[in-house]
Amino acid sequence: MEQLTIRSADPELDAWACAHIYAPYVTDTVVSFELDPPSAPEMAQRIGSAIEWLVAVRDNDVVGYAYAVQHRQRAAYRFACDVSVYVHRGSHGLGVGSELYRQLLDRLERRNYRTACAGITMPNDASQGLHTALGFTRVGVYHAIGWKFDAWHDTLWMQKHLGGSGPPAGEPG
Ligand SMILES: CC(C)(COP(=O)(O)OP(=O)(O)OC[C@H]1O[C@@H](n2cnc3c(N)ncnc32)[C@H](O)[C@@H]1OP(=O)(O)O)[C@@H](O)C(=O)NCCC(=O)NCCS
Repeated sequence: MEQLTIRSADPELDAWACAHIYAPYVTDTVVSFELDPPSAPEMAQRIGSAIEWLVAVRDNDVVGYAYAVQHRQRAAYRFACDVSVYVHRGSHGLGVGSELYRQLLDRLERRNYRTACAGITMPNDASQGLHTALGFTRVGVYHAIGWKFDAWHDTLWMQKHLGGSGPPAGEPG
């Protein structure tokens, strides 16, 4: 098996693969709160507007992706991102998610972001385990916040501090 490569996503090259990985989590699970899987053009738009979007490639196939978007729009939130990660169903448990996240968090820290936030529909042992393993801590639970497949679902929020303490070293860039 070829080595895993992590690189920045290219909206044109990688949108279809990311949409393909994501679609079953939309159609078959409550991991995603979307109801309809995004098209490749929509995914390309998301890749292009993200703060960071990384893909994991093995044997020339994209097997997972992780990304960061702005947490909220108000100016004081500008050092905080929401992050997420999706690994192809056939590639779970092989270290893809953790390598994507390690590199994503490292890039965010180098760009002066100070907090990574993650919202996880409960239950999701794999996601909670991954975030905990990478140093995220529990913030709290939004109860019955999402309605999908005729049921209410809870979202656990976790966060990880990036960089040192004290004032920011510079603006996010
Ligand atoms: C969550 C997800 C990204 C994990 O990716 P992965 O490549 O399978 O995870 P890794 O192999 O890198 O595992 C890293 C760590 O995560 C934790 N973990 C992974 N799978 C786990 C599971 N099924 N149960 C508990 N912990 C798990 C472990 O701590 C693991 O470290 P270890 O192997 O040393 O025990 C993957 O399962 C996935 O794509 N799930 C569906 C989409 C999803 O839930 N995304 C997150 C949205 S919030």
